[in-house]
Amino acid sequence: MGLGISLVVSFLGFIVLVLIAYIGVDKVGLYSLFGVIIPYAALAIFIFGIIYRVLSWARRPVPFRIPTTAGQEKSLPWIKQNKIDNPSSALGTFIRMVFEVLLFRSLFRNTRTELRSGPMISYASAKWLWLAALAFHYSFLIILTRHLRLFTQPVPYVIEKLEFFDSFFQVGVPLLYITDLVFIVAVTYLLLRRVYIPQLRYISLPADYFPLFLIGGIGVTGVLMRYFFKVNVVGVKELAMSLARFSPTIPEGIGVLFYIHLFLVSILFAYFPFSKLTHMAGVFLSPTRNLANNNRMNRHINPWDYPVKVHTYEEYEDHFREFMKDAGLPVEKE
Ligand code: HEM
Repeated sequence: MGLGISLVVSFLGFIVLVLIAYIGVDKVGLYSLFGVIIPYAALAIFIFGIIYRVLSWARRPVPFRIPTTAGQEKSLPWIKQNKIDNPSSALGTFIRMVFEVLLFRSLFRNTRTELRSGPMISYASAKWLWLAALAFHYSFLIILTRHLRLFTQPVPYVIEKLEFFDSFFQVGVPLLYITDLVFIVAVTYLLLRRVYIPQLRYISLPADYFPLFLIGGIGVTGVLMRYFFKVNVVGVKELAMSLARFSPTIPEGIGVLFYIHLFLVSILFAYFPFSKLTHMAGVFLSPTRNLANNNRMNRHINPWDYPVKVHTYEEYEDHFREFMKDAGLPVEKE
């Protein structure tokens, strides 16, 4: 089976981006464009894009409670309720949300369906995806937080401690960050999973592959910069701090690899609000998760309900009584 067109298109798109940054900086010398203008523009698009998406979700009506329920709902006193997977109170919903956001609980409970010979359907646990997703998101978060050392002077104590624990095993020079290893392995797993599992490849679109290439590319260029082809990190810090102070200056001789890294990061930020990656903000607004299931305890009335002209059964019968009797149908009133 050939590799999907979506995979090829996304990979080519990613390569074109790398080439744009390489040629733009190394051959044409557009330092301010790639070092200042594009990063600022990307950040602005990210912030306003996310605000726009969140506001538009928040404006959507949610007239009914539609939480996904994955356990026994609150019922008779002697039937044990599953308070997390089928919460009926605000506290239960909050706890469920915390488990979802911090531990990806629904992914943990995910199962794999297989058709065996027989034919027989079998369900198996699918914990690798959960593990890789958790590893990926947490290493991403730690790496991003560690980067604050480039934007701050003196470097906050918390960031220094984070660096200390992240390089705890003291392997190599410069010290290997555990998160770098975890990040690259997790992104590789998430990509290979899509490529190698035929059912998954079948439903995968460029919108699924492209973010993985982009994020993987950011990781690889970062790793290359730190461990293999050194860039001028003092220069990078000068640039980063000048950007944070809104008085940008571009130091000489940082190295093109850094500009490729920064350009890929900028594309990621600008692309973020328009892509599936907005689940970062969307998870909090998901009515299948953020509502308590108290449908059978409280009567929920559509808040903008207006009186609707209804045709009651009594009226119906008044209308058709004779015809109903003729047809031998039972009637309530003679
Ligand atoms: C989504 C955002 C970003 C991700 C995921 C990311 C990822 C990485 C990774 C995995 C590394 C390898 C070393 C390490 O873990 O520290 C790295 C290094 C590096 N990144 Fe980033 N990066 C991001 C944003 C940025 C930004 C905005 C800048 C500049 C302002 C930057 C500048 C650098 C530099 C200079 C290094 C080399 C550090 C060294 O030699 O120790 N990165 N990045």
